[in-house]
Amino acid sequence: MSALMKIEAVTIFPDYFSPLNLSLIGKAQSAEIIEVKIHDLRSFTDDNHNTVDDTPYGGGAGMVMLPEIWGRALDPLMVDGTDLIILTPAGKRFDQKMAEKFATSEHLVFACGRYEGIDDRVRIHYSSPEYSSRNIRVHEVSIGDYVLGGGEVASLVIIEAVTRLLPGVIGNPQSLVEESHNTEGYLEYPNFTKPQEWRGITVPEILLSGNHGEIAKWRTLQASERAKENG
Ligand code: ADE
Repeated sequence: MSALMKIEAVTIFPDYFSPLNLSLIGKAQSAEIIEVKIHDLRSFTDDNHNTVDDTPYGGGAGMVMLPEIWGRALDPLMVDGTDLIILTPAGKRFDQKMAEKFATSEHLVFACGRYEGIDDRVRIHYSSPEYSSRNIRVHEVSIGDYVLGGGEVASLVIIEAVTRLLPGVIGNPQSLVEESHNTEGYLEYPNFTKPQEWRGITVPEILLSGNHGEIAKWRTLQASERAKENG
């Protein structure tokens, strides 16, 4: 049995995270492989309007999320060994390697910014030696070169990619082994199942041959041709 991974997110839209109760991730929660806790940032405000943002110093468009509110929300979550993930289009690009690294963590905390992002002092504060000496690491992460309305969907992407790597989550762990044997982990060959002919298109003959060596060679070639085309 694998160690339990705790996954938490702080957001002004907790409902964005309801898909985590479905499918693989829902099952991983039932099996107690992961524990998910979503926190409403607005519950840490103390004014009548539940204000979470203000105008940026130096001027410019948009609003910036208040460090005081974020500090209140994050302080209690920063236990030793936490990986704090701040979602931002300016972050380091998320990829399979990063997913594998996060999959070794005991505790992931996702800070979901909206508007023009979170006051940068939040990142600076939790990156200080006081936290790094407790094995708390801060990661600014982007899921791609486009701008989303906020970090919620980006968090879901990362949670899904990480959770499926945890022992016991995927029914057939061989599929993870096969992925990792592909040079980039995700350069897949095309797949076919029944029937042998569909709408006049037949399954490549080689796959029916039973010759596993030749099949493996064919798949490698197909995967690299597909990568060339799509890359
Ligand atoms: N917030 C807005 N856009 C984002 C992106 N591309 N990745 C992560 N967080 C974001």
